Amino acid sequence: MRTYDIVTIDGDGIGPEVCQSAITVLREACGERLRFTAAEGGAAHHLKTGAVLPDDTFAACRDAHAILHGAAGLPGVTYPDGTEVGNDLHLRLRFRLDLYANVRPIRLLRGVTSPLAGWQPGQIDYVIVRENTEGLYASRGAGINLRGEVATDTLVMTRKGVERVARFSFELARRRQGAPRDGRRRVTVCDKANILRSYAFFRAVCDEVAAGYPDVEIDHAYADAITVHMLKKPDCYDVIVAENMFGDILSDLGAGTVGGLGIAPSAEVGDAHGLFQGAHGSAPDIAGQNLASPVATILSGALMLHWLADRHDDADLRAAGERVDRAVEAVLAAGHTVPRDLGGNASCSAMTEAVCRQLGA
Ligand code: IPM
Ligand code: MN
Repeated sequence: MRTYDIVTIDGDGIGPEVCQSAITVLREACGERLRFTAAEGGAAHHLKTGAVLPDDTFAACRDAHAILHGAAGLPGVTYPDGTEVGNDLHLRLRFRLDLYANVRPIRLLRGVTSPLAGWQPGQIDYVIVRENTEGLYASRGAGINLRGEVATDTLVMTRKGVERVARFSFELARRRQGAPRDGRRRVTVCDKANILRSYAFFRAVCDEVAAGYPDVEIDHAYADAITVHMLKKPDCYDVIVAENMFGDILSDLGAGTVGGLGIAPSAEVGDAHGLFQGAHGSAPDIAGQNLASPVATILSGALMLHWLADRHDDADLRAAGERVDRAVEAVLAAGHTVPRDLGGNASCSAMTEAVCRQLGA
């Protein structure tokens, strides 16, 4: 049986707790098939050593089968330009490993109540695919602050970058069952093509890619309008593809409609590497108190198993990923062990133990 080398980066704040929780669950689901190696990185590491992403950590990530991450970033740990140091852990890995698709499932699970009145599990089930290496983030560390009077950041779109994230989105739609409302496979291109040439370019390149997928419907939504649609008709969405900054914002809005960031997983993948982490931050205010919900990171671990299974045609790993997904949803649906962000009082360790028990059931 094939084994996989997984590099783990606990990071800052609640990162260690939720990352270790996910490792515990993945070991329960996969036994010895995953070999975990811990690596350093994040804002606290920067304070100690000056390195937010040490060279040996980057090398380990580059050479591993996948990367599992807790969270990074500490308030007040910033560069002289005011931007946060901890975020460079993610961003440097995204850019240097070319993790161009940030895959963010938005799914209402059984046992979770949506803040959108009347929506039931199964009715909200779509994926936001966020372009993850260019857009407005391309200017990270390159913006201009001129004498404290004028500041600019440049939004970058390349044909290569848009084509590959669009193709990724259409291929994903082909593997899904379509939007809950009508079962139609659909890619919604989110942009502001009416205002900026770069977004009109994004839309035009997506439309070119769509021509190769006659079996997948394409529609378009401006970034402002889609925020309303995501609240009023979430069941219309199957796959949404967006530029980096819009994807960052919309994925938090989407997560909010299905329970919040504590339940929102992410898979940041390219052609050769994958980084898996909850979409939430480091929540330093509750760090080290066993209060954090590990659900987003556990579900990100399941995404990692699915991704590895697809890459290596590993049916056992795919089954393990499905078992983890089902175990998390069964625990939430049972309602006995519910994390604090979902209205319960379960600790991080209690959630971990409940999911492991469910896996063994
Ligand atoms: C996310 C986060 C990151 C981002 C930060 C932590 C760099 O908000 O993954 O959504 O801005 O992309
Ligand atoms: Mn974000």
